[in-house]
Amino acid sequence: MCGIVGIIGKDAARKVINSLKILEYRGYDSAGIAVMLNGRIEVRKAAGTIENLISRYPDILEMRGELSIGHTRWATHGKVSDSNAHPITDCSRRIAVVHNGTIDNYMEIRERLSAKHEFRTETDTEVIAHLIEEKLNRGLGRLEAFVSAISELRGEYAVACMFEGANELYLARNRIPLVIGVGEGENYCASDVIALLNLTNKFIYVNDGEFALITSKNIDVWRFEEGRLIPVEKRINLVDWSPSMTSKGKYEHFMLKEIFEQEDVVKRILMESRRYIKGALSILEETMKNGGRIIFLAAGTSYHASMVGKYLLNSLLGYPSEVSIASEFTRWNLRGLSEDDLVIAVSQSGETADVLMAVKSAKEKGAKILSFVNVPGSTLSRESDEVFFFSAGPEIGVAATKTYVAELVSFLLTFTELGKITGDPVYHVAEALPRLPSIVASCLESSNRIAKALSEAIKGENSIFFMGRGINYPTALEGALKMKEISYIHAEGFPAGEYKHGPLALISEGTYSIVIGSNDQEIRDLLLSNVNELKARGSKVISVETDEHLPSDIRIKVAENGLPEEVLPVVFVIPLQLLAYYTAVTLGRNPDKPRNLAKSVTVK
Ligand code: AGP
Repeated sequence: MCGIVGIIGKDAARKVINSLKILEYRGYDSAGIAVMLNGRIEVRKAAGTIENLISRYPDILEMRGELSIGHTRWATHGKVSDSNAHPITDCSRRIAVVHNGTIDNYMEIRERLSAKHEFRTETDTEVIAHLIEEKLNRGLGRLEAFVSAISELRGEYAVACMFEGANELYLARNRIPLVIGVGEGENYCASDVIALLNLTNKFIYVNDGEFALITSKNIDVWRFEEGRLIPVEKRINLVDWSPSMTSKGKYEHFMLKEIFEQEDVVKRILMESRRYIKGALSILEETMKNGGRIIFLAAGTSYHASMVGKYLLNSLLGYPSEVSIASEFTRWNLRGLSEDDLVIAVSQSGETADVLMAVKSAKEKGAKILSFVNVPGSTLSRESDEVFFFSAGPEIGVAATKTYVAELVSFLLTFTELGKITGDPVYHVAEALPRLPSIVASCLESSNRIAKALSEAIKGENSIFFMGRGINYPTALEGALKMKEISYIHAEGFPAGEYKHGPLALISEGTYSIVIGSNDQEIRDLLLSNVNELKARGSKVISVETDEHLPSDIRIKVAENGLPEEVLPVVFVIPLQLLAYYTAVTLGRNPDKPRNLAKSVTVK
């Protein structure tokens, strides 16, 4: 996943650099900008981060152009190098493009053009610049050349292009996010709204198959159908996120800031997100009335949240539901899907390719889509019949933290409200929700210190095992994912009842096992045996629980004994997030930008 940005207006280069710094969470292998200076295109690009680019080219912030495009790369085709960094130009260097996505047919286009065009990079993107040049050389105008070239591409792309001497930005989108920012006497484009919040909160969302031509004064959008450009009327959307949300503030990393934002996030969902619950309730009620299937689908952390969602729907409302890993959905769950069925798609970015592909297949079968999404204007939110925006604010850290808790609380709110309608026994959970923000706050306070201390104890481990039962089995999976994705320590989560069926063989003297507790007596009794068995084999047991129920070696005590089991995943995950964070930091990792990972996986 890369980040692209374009600015047409005063001080364009500096604004592009500022936006690229915010977009770095999307990829940071290399970075570059192109600026129109005295009618000519100047390119500055280099492997490494934006900071490295600025130190390589100190003049970059002095470049006073009125038009600039920029790119921060997560390499897909071609190694990480200066030459493979974007922007990428044509032979004459009169055309510059930046691109996020993958061009499936780039090799055949490259072979066709290589006789007359000098290729200087290993990227798939370069074919776009030469294709446009080819069309221009045949006498097409800029817009026709751009549209004709893009129309030859197969694959996924968000492209921004500039031509020497023309104060115009040309945009195209297919299955990769691209938004237009509306300014005062200037306009912008970027991979997502976060990158432009310091410039505007007015956005136009570009859809798949659409083209746009923006100048400092105008924004024109077209659909390209049967060889013709058909104008498209676009609405201006207001996004109520503030620029301060995209700064680390007093925190060393975005991840820590976002962990500590969780009290406010929970409060905001319980207070403000209620405006979205009506649509969610009606589509759920309709499905349940018709006895339709309900299938959650998601990836990564959102998948773990979906497991909790399924548990809540099954246990609170007694309605059977399924949960599917998005990339596996079409192979396991698609058959027999019909218009009576409901897919609950869960994605903080709303751009995860696996989720979008699965949703597309489900819609082709006639299923309805209810999505739980964080980012306004995201593709998933626009592909759904009903959307619950959980308003967690921008999440910059690659590791999902506040959006995980936001997803859990959104499910708790939705399914308890639904239970009140269907007459199911949900009040014991519903009445705990208003107390959640303060419980989360005290949990952050109480677990921060111990998590920091514990990180020193576990930082040398090769493997750490997480286990839980019932609604906290997903908590174990989520704790393991956080640990492995930012500290790079191997971590595995599994149902506590499963480790005797194999994983116990991995337990040796001193192995750390993290056991997620319970407020349910029957589950506690089972966990008690698990802890004794682990300790009998020399494992060091860390427990996360509400009281001293388990004979663990180290206990992280959070929340309260009397809290209903259904809300425990919200609080039990917090110490695990902090433990992963401090372990990563103590190991010298950058928790905001873990190696090989991207915030939103927009490629299949
Ligand atoms: C979680 O920490 C990871 N960043 C990753 O697993 C993420 O949850 C997954 O890619 C899904 O992202 P989404 O919620 O934006 O769809």
